[in-house]
Amino acid sequence: MADEWVIETEGLTRTFKKVTAVNNLTLQIKRGEIFGLVGPDGAGKTTTIRLLAAILDPTGGSAKVDGFDTVAQPEPIKRRIGYMAQRFNLYGDLSVWENLNFFADVFEMTGTERQERIEMLLNFARLTEFRDRHAAHLSGGMQKKLALACTLIHTPDIIYLDEPTTGVDPVSRREFWDILTDLHLQGITLVVSTPYMDEAERCSRVGLMYQGGLVVCDTPEAIKAMTEGELIALWPSDLRRAHDILLGTEGVLEVQTYGDQLRLFARDGDDIMARLQATLTEHNIQLADARRTSPRMEEAFISLIRRQMNEKP
Ligand SMILES: Nc1ncnc2c1ncn2[C@@H]1O[C@H](COP(=O)(O)OP(=O)(O)OP(=O)(O)O)[C@@H](O)[C@H]1O
Ligand SMILES: [Mg+2]
Repeated sequence: MADEWVIETEGLTRTFKKVTAVNNLTLQIKRGEIFGLVGPDGAGKTTTIRLLAAILDPTGGSAKVDGFDTVAQPEPIKRRIGYMAQRFNLYGDLSVWENLNFFADVFEMTGTERQERIEMLLNFARLTEFRDRHAAHLSGGMQKKLALACTLIHTPDIIYLDEPTTGVDPVSRREFWDILTDLHLQGITLVVSTPYMDEAERCSRVGLMYQGGLVVCDTPEAIKAMTEGELIALWPSDLRRAHDILLGTEGVLEVQTYGDQLRLFARDGDDIMARLQATLTEHNIQLADARRTSPRMEEAFISLIRRQMNEKP
């Protein structure tokens, strides 16, 4: 299974003066998978991607991409990868078509192959009818699609996307992910960092980063199954008070707030369900509804990060 892993890191570490941005990261990414990198602000996602793109050298450990070492052999890596940075720079006063041509120049593409590629990408990114519009005048979602098209100009086998849909409306996010799915079906390996849990859910495997380290790395299903306890969703009249009261109740492991509901992890779900109404009534809190449910990605991550925080001295 020599080439099953297209990306492999071993104890990968990067420090900046006093900050350890990436800390002893050992990670494998399979050829052709959509790998999601998630974690809170400052967790080290961008630094990891820059290390894997061979544009930043590690201060410890190593990383291989398609068998090439990122420090010793950056050139073949750069030919194979496309990198859409967190703050991707389009040229606002150039048109969509001119932006693509600019990137084609950078990769020294010529002839009919170049023109065919540009037309194909315009079509693929659903931008053909906007080809003459200045990039600055595109919607946020369209700018992201143009950035993706520019990233794909040299036909990379591996694509890194650093928060490609942050700040984009839900409809455009969905459309962007449909395009990523098309790339996935073409066999391209995708490494995507995202703050959105619905996007993490669409990945084949997800790595959760926290303080430069990897807390967990598995399929979304397996990660959701890792949450401790049984989950109850409830709609009490006084959210904040109910939160505090329930958190102090015997058998309750954790309480999270989402909009107008509480999501409570219990050691024994049936036991808590039996006592819930009485506990809240005792404090003059009404309960509109309470039901057993299964954990979502977001709960699983919050729970895993809390556990990690508690383990640290
Ligand atoms: N060039 C740099 N010089 C100094 N510190 C840096 C540098 N790049 C990153 N860091 C620090 O390393 C840590 C990890 O940063 P990184 O940008 O990789 O996190 P991130 O997970 O991408 O965060 P975000 O979700 O905000 O994009 C942060 O504490 C950051 O301040
Ligand atoms: Mg980042």
